[in-house]
Amino acid sequence: MFDLKHYMDEKRVRVNAALENCLPNENEPPALLHQAMRYSVLAGGKRLRPILVIASAEAFGGSTDDALTPATAVECLHTYSLIHDDLPAMDDDDLRRGKPTLHKAFGEANAILAGDSLLTLAFELLAGAAEAARLTGELARAAGSRGLAGGQFEDLASEGALPELEALIRIHSRKTGCLLSAACRMGAITAGAGDAEIESVSLYGAKIGLAFQIVDDILNATSTTQALGKATGSDADRKKMSYVALTGIDAARNKARTLLDEAISEIEKTPGSITPLVALAHYIADRTS
Ligand code: IPE
Ligand code: IPE
Ligand code: MG
Ligand code: MG
Repeated sequence: MFDLKHYMDEKRVRVNAALENCLPNENEPPALLHQAMRYSVLAGGKRLRPILVIASAEAFGGSTDDALTPATAVECLHTYSLIHDDLPAMDDDDLRRGKPTLHKAFGEANAILAGDSLLTLAFELLAGAAEAARLTGELARAAGSRGLAGGQFEDLASEGALPELEALIRIHSRKTGCLLSAACRMGAITAGAGDAEIESVSLYGAKIGLAFQIVDDILNATSTTQALGKATGSDADRKKMSYVALTGIDAARNKARTLLDEAISEIEKTPGSITPLVALAHYIADRTS
């Protein structure tokens, strides 16, 4: 039987080694900036997005080795988004990945610059990858104003507004779904998958991305700071437009399960080796941290 924990642990070791390798050394000037980048990236994290890149590549005959550069790039970009998300001008959070947020530990200007540097490093890494132009386009589209940054804009703009389903799906899909979907697409591209397969994995990624953010909203309302390594109860405090605020916890759980089923139906249309992707979808819907 497929052992997802073993699979994720194994891939995480590879991803962590690649991240360690691509980050500037902590003594390289400007040392404080490089220490700040390393502080956030190497603080832990589930490494879900890089694992999705690798699992999507493997689904279509690619290897972990080939997928490692785009996987690393996606995690650098994700970590930048967390650093900026936590800033006082955004969610103003003090704890991330079980440690003080970067602006708390290194100051606000250094946190902004470390985020900028990780965002840029992601594209520097892709520039050296096979299929560089395609992968760069994928990540740029997912991260920009029509994707993650646009979703973050709308997330902040809608604080305090009456929750509304269409707006909520748009925000969640952009701020979180786009990057998960791009991670899956990038893995498939690395493996030389065809258009139909890329489309399938892309829809799978969008569905699990939305489910992932719904579960994040549920955990914010129901879990503990200790379990998550970040603040809880903060969505309600800031009057965020969350799934929990719109539908309540039970309906939000049901929605995440429906999305899980839809994601699996989508990925089952492909002829690839999809066992890890199916298991990852279950993990996303059922996760407790
Ligand atoms: C947190 O992402 C931000 C969201 C999009 C909800 P993760 O829950 O994947 O954070 P890490 O990488 O494990 O710290
Ligand atoms: C994070 O969304 C999304 C991005 C960083 C792009 P949230 O603000 O809901 O996530 P957490 O709860 O701080 O991790
Ligand atoms: Mg936020
Ligand atoms: Mg936040």
